[in-house]
Amino acid sequence: MIPRLGVNIDHVATIRNARGGDYPDPVRAAQMALLAGADGITAHLREDRRHITDRDIVRLGQEVKLPLNLEMAATSEMLDIALDAAPHAACIVPEKREERTTEGGLDAAGQHNHLAHFTQALGDNGTRVSLFIEPNKRQIDAALSLGVPVVELHTGAYAEACNAQDEGMAAKILDDLRTAAEYGAGQGLEIHAGHGLTFDSVKPVAAITQIKELNIGHFLISEAIFCGLETAVLRMKGLIMSARQEARS
Ligand code: PXP
Repeated sequence: MIPRLGVNIDHVATIRNARGGDYPDPVRAAQMALLAGADGITAHLREDRRHITDRDIVRLGQEVKLPLNLEMAATSEMLDIALDAAPHAACIVPEKREERTTEGGLDAAGQHNHLAHFTQALGDNGTRVSLFIEPNKRQIDAALSLGVPVVELHTGAYAEACNAQDEGMAAKILDDLRTAAEYGAGQGLEIHAGHGLTFDSVKPVAAITQIKELNIGHFLISEAIFCGLETAVLRMKGLIMSARQEARS
């Protein structure tokens, strides 16, 4: 099975918000991603609303015929919004106001009691819950004990090592991703991955056979400036497909 591609459209909203107007519209980007073959849309409603807004989440649910994966911090404000929007999926992520992007995975092991309330309420509302975690056994065991059906493995450190052309480090982290994916899938979890992936770094991750979904945003939106979003999404889908086919042969 070829991994699904969830297109994260947050940074269309980043550009829109730079001027405070209506364009570029992240909902239009989501519709275009659908035409290019995206399998889902991912959007992170941050506490400070630096990119996606509450209204975007409502419109994505109403106007886009693709499953929505809402990335959210484990706060009561976000839980109320997620229960109201009832997206197909929610991915619980750590969030720090001062960070530029989601730096590292959730400490599911250290925050078990806090997270249980969120995972339970979202799951009971019919939303598929995932936890954005580092690729290690401790965090996977914590996700298992919380009873979530999905984990998303953070690929940020791998992508950074690729960008820095640190092949040794990239290979080591890739190994951690493989081991975590194998262990988690063996325990019955659905495995997703994402963060920081580019045309240059996506294939070794997409080749991990247990990975069922990749969520990719910043690079696709950046590339869209030069070649258009449809072309960027199509090329990413092609790389994911060829990685999986090569892994099989
Ligand atoms: N997955 C999760 C859980 C994320 O928080 C993000 C960033 O919002 C992504 C995937 C996509 O990361 P990037 O925009 O770097 O491709």
